[in-house]
Amino acid sequence: MRFLITAGPTREPIDPVRYLSNRSSGKMGYALAKAARNAGHEVTLISGPVSIPAPESTDLVRVETAVEMFDAVKIRINEADVAIFCAAVADYRIKEISAEKIKKNDEEVTLTLMQNPDILGSARSEFGFTGRLVGFAAETENVEANARGKLERKGCDFVVANDVSRRDIGFDRDANEVILFAADGSTMRLDRASKDEIAKAIIQHILTR
Ligand code: PMT
Repeated sequence: MRFLITAGPTREPIDPVRYLSNRSSGKMGYALAKAARNAGHEVTLISGPVSIPAPESTDLVRVETAVEMFDAVKIRINEADVAIFCAAVADYRIKEISAEKIKKNDEEVTLTLMQNPDILGSARSEFGFTGRLVGFAAETENVEANARGKLERKGCDFVVANDVSRRDIGFDRDANEVILFAADGSTMRLDRASKDEIAKAIIQHILTR
């Protein structure tokens, strides 16, 4: 099968030297790419800026911004049988990027933000993807209700929820603990383990259910 996986953060420029981003390291998405490849599948990995090496034998597409990730997914998603959206995409970008470095002065600086495109939310409606669609949900409260809401609104077959308020799992950690919510109403909990082990179990589960 052919997999498309998004990973890492996006970077939204403010001026030539500054940006808005988040703490995603890419470890979870890269572990998924490795697990899918080890199970014998073809993998296209669309990655925001990270400092970890790409898994061998994957087609790596590097992007910086959410708009670049949107475009990269749009032109490739319909070649895939399974699409997994693990990237921590910035929901907002700076409305007017300064061409020059913003100078320090005594005044407050106000940055106006505008919404980025929802890449996962566009998979069915705009890109016309008909394969198996897997989203992630980074939650700090009401994990089940929020994850199920995303599953339905975005037309996913599965949503993988992780509690990103915990310091021992999630963003920039080597371990994770997740609950998989399926469109058929079933759930599966994967207790805390390395991201490699969690990724392997996610790939197995989404292909066998
Ligand atoms: O990279 P690591 O350090 O290993 O950390 C892993 C992780 C915590 C980033 C990962 O496990 C995770 O939770 N990824 C999803 C992060 C996220 O942005 O969640 P969300 O609940 O805000 O978004 C929901 C879904 O929509 C996600 O599949 C996301 O990729 C997607 N999305 C969000 C916004 C947007 N504009 N476009 C999207 O496609």
